Amino acid sequence: MRTGSHLPLLFSLPAYAWAAPQEDIEHRIDALLKRMTLEEKLGQMSQSTDLAAPITDKIKQQIRAGRWGSFLNAGGPADRAEAQRIAMRETRLGIPLIFGRDVIHGYRTIFPIPLGQSATWDEDLISQAAREAALEATAEGIHWTFAPMIDICRDPRWGRVAESLGEDPYLTSVLGAAMVRGFQGDSLNRADSLAACAKHYAGYGAAEGGRDYNSAWIPEILLRDVYLRPFRAARDAGVATFMTAFNTLNAIPATGNRFLLRDILRSEWKFDGAVVSDYQAIRELTAHGYATGPPDAARKALLAGVDLEMVSTTYFDHLKALLQANLIDMREVDEAVRNILRLKFRLGLFDGRRPAAKPGIAALPAAERLATESMVLLKNAGGLLPLKKTIAKLAVIGPLADSPPDQMGTWAMDGNPRDVRTPLAAFREMLGNDRVVYASVLKNSRDMSTAAFAQALRLSAQSDAVVLFLGEDATMSGEARSRAFLGLPGSQEQLVDQLASTGKPLIAVIMAGRPLTFHRTAEKLGAILYAWHPGTMGGPAIAHLIFGDSVPSGKLPISFPRSVGQVPIYYAHLSTGRPPGPNDLGTPMGTPENPKDYTSRYIDLDFTPEYPFGYGLSYTTFRYSATRVSAPALDSSGSIEISADVSNTGGRPADEIVELYVSGPAGGSVARPVRELKGFKRVHLAPGETKAVTFSIRRSNLAFYNNRMEFSAESGRYRAWLAPDSTRGTPVDFVLK
Ligand code: BGC
Repeated sequence: MRTGSHLPLLFSLPAYAWAAPQEDIEHRIDALLKRMTLEEKLGQMSQSTDLAAPITDKIKQQIRAGRWGSFLNAGGPADRAEAQRIAMRETRLGIPLIFGRDVIHGYRTIFPIPLGQSATWDEDLISQAAREAALEATAEGIHWTFAPMIDICRDPRWGRVAESLGEDPYLTSVLGAAMVRGFQGDSLNRADSLAACAKHYAGYGAAEGGRDYNSAWIPEILLRDVYLRPFRAARDAGVATFMTAFNTLNAIPATGNRFLLRDILRSEWKFDGAVVSDYQAIRELTAHGYATGPPDAARKALLAGVDLEMVSTTYFDHLKALLQANLIDMREVDEAVRNILRLKFRLGLFDGRRPAAKPGIAALPAAERLATESMVLLKNAGGLLPLKKTIAKLAVIGPLADSPPDQMGTWAMDGNPRDVRTPLAAFREMLGNDRVVYASVLKNSRDMSTAAFAQALRLSAQSDAVVLFLGEDATMSGEARSRAFLGLPGSQEQLVDQLASTGKPLIAVIMAGRPLTFHRTAEKLGAILYAWHPGTMGGPAIAHLIFGDSVPSGKLPISFPRSVGQVPIYYAHLSTGRPPGPNDLGTPMGTPENPKDYTSRYIDLDFTPEYPFGYGLSYTTFRYSATRVSAPALDSSGSIEISADVSNTGGRPADEIVELYVSGPAGGSVARPVRELKGFKRVHLAPGETKAVTFSIRRSNLAFYNNRMEFSAESGRYRAWLAPDSTRGTPVDFVLK
């Protein structure tokens, strides 16, 4: 037993098995658990945000007493170091603290918001960005990030779509796993490894009405086939932790959901990491009406399988009485503590882990590349872009052209606005101050005023082209930032109307945390570059794209609706019995009284999206040959090759993201989506160059959940497309025997 000496733990307690790094982790946990009091166990199950800088005496005292096992989003590097010193040297058992933080899309260097990262379809670069974030965060004593958020979202009203990787389970699985690998590095116990957290488990992105925290109703077949797939992929990538979601899923809150946490995560998937609740989500079980009060909430969360309580204190306050009343069992407490301690052991926290060395500024080039690849060219009428650098005068208009916080986007609390290189600064650097004229015109994107429109018209009259920065402030997306309208806020549309009347070439760069609807405005613009919230290096990335030093290559990771009334709209939908055909585009179709055509569409708007999933233009053009298969049929053990020739038919070297879609089987046990993404490759092509792009498909790639919840591939006829987006490509059929 420790006697209060101030020597480091490893020296004072050499005999204890938990202090011996060579011992097996489970033995070390056994040894430690045997020594722990109930209060110490409950302390390990509690996470606080209360680590003020400097640390108060009250918190120091609490740490000494083992009241907290973990802190989130609190304190600075020195406070964390001091808290850790107290935990390891001045407590009875020397159990280290774990420091968690929302390192969502970068730490000091801010990368594009996750939805923008997803538009790169670049697994390696996304993994590298997460690695850079881990280097920066671990150097400041952070051990654990609450990322990646891999909630599938098919509703752009939801503000947290900005933090998501979009609508598709395959893309989200591949890119989410890449983030996990990047954050965690080669081994969790390295000083620069940041434990990742797959969140929010599960269904959070399906909030009813797109309203944050709202109920999710997801039939099990859809849950397993779509919403859970990225979580399974994160688990397979070795993610250290899971976070439960705030929402109810099919009437049971995710934070009290035994089916999700015990049946699927622990029993089916054999996950042995730690499960943390979301912020006060255990306490909120009462507000959901699922618990009668805090004691009942604690009991339900524990029984469901939540190990660690974030911020609320129902575990610490009530588990003791629940044990005494035999309403829970010590085994359940021990199991939760074991999962938490396992995480701490795996991170090397017991074995003298210290903050990693501070990295240099290596992240900036990666941040610029990621920003460049994330931007999606939606329109480029008559090849307006790229502009020529010989341009005499460029007008830059709009508040988002020079707004560091908005450029960083949601969840950028460690980003420093002073590091941000804005588009305005980048244009001035590129062309010289004299050739760039600028007016913000509006105070922010929500500004309704038209007072400065005259100034915008004056600048436009003096210039050869106008680059107009449109979109949403950073604060309009993210947590609790749901929108009922998806249009450009404030007077931005009127501003476009005015500028369009001048006849000057009009280029819009749209910064936003979600798909916006801007159909009428788009018609007035010559070119549209969708830039999301591009992060620290967004400015240079935009300037280089606009002037052709780089070529747009991003593709949409989510469908863009024409109107909010089309939501939810996503490409991998089922067919109806009356699917509208290619001749049913547009809206005129008889009268509302006599719609003529009884297919699944709207009488007042085209049924297709404004821009489909997978869509994005380039400064060059690509041609796809018809899709080929290596054999007409695939037997159960083999694989089949699906390929097409992709040619660069334009004048510039460029990357093209080639997408593989599959549908089928026809006539299976359940109806299947009209198409599903099954692969993608980023291919570089010189002008005139053609490459054969090939994907290999095995039986397992075709597996899906049937109505008995069995995951298997059914025999039958399948169809495949290699395509530039989810609506195009020439299909080929093959049979799975
Ligand atoms: C969010 C989580 C986040 C946590 C800690 C919650 O409100 O839903 O995603 O990790 O806060 O900041």
